Amino acid sequence: MKEKTLAIIKPDAVKKKVIGEIIAKIQSAGFEILGLKMIKISKEQAGAFYEIHKERPFYNDLVNYMSSGPIVVIALEKENAIEDYRKLIGNTNPEKAEEGTIRKLYGTNIESNAVHGSDSVENGEKEVGFFFSRNELTATSS
Ligand code: RTP
Ligand code: MG
Repeated sequence: MKEKTLAIIKPDAVKKKVIGEIIAKIQSAGFEILGLKMIKISKEQAGAFYEIHKERPFYNDLVNYMSSGPIVVIALEKENAIEDYRKLIGNTNPEKAEEGTIRKLYGTNIESNAVHGSDSVENGEKEVGFFFSRNELTATSS
């Protein structure tokens, strides 16, 4: 079954000018890009996107960080996309991430960790829908 996952290139990676390198890794790993755009989100949008973490101690910092600069949101599709993409990005903490993973290569610290990935099939669908309208995704979907 093909699954969807939402990738975000986070503000630290955009500032490091590694958007191209990260997209190349994603495409080499066999993911289809259904939609892609660079945007800057408000604190309110970041808060809504990460609402699941609102009781966590890092929530406020995370919301401030995700709204601090441009991000690139990418809707991806692949067989087994959720698991495969999370393997490609590595552990939340770049120091603990495996060699060759995106977070190991481009992450800065546990908060500024270069990329986001959806954590379940259900959330993949939901998160793609958070940033993309249906007609933005039809162009490449097969
Ligand atoms: P993501 O949702 O962004 O793909 O990351 P994840 O599943 O690996 O980690 P999650 O637990 O969902 O945390 C979401 C994001 O919050 C920031 N964070 N900061 N300061 C901290 O201890 C801390 N822990 C997490 C990171 O940006 C993490 O990706
Ligand atoms: Mg998560």
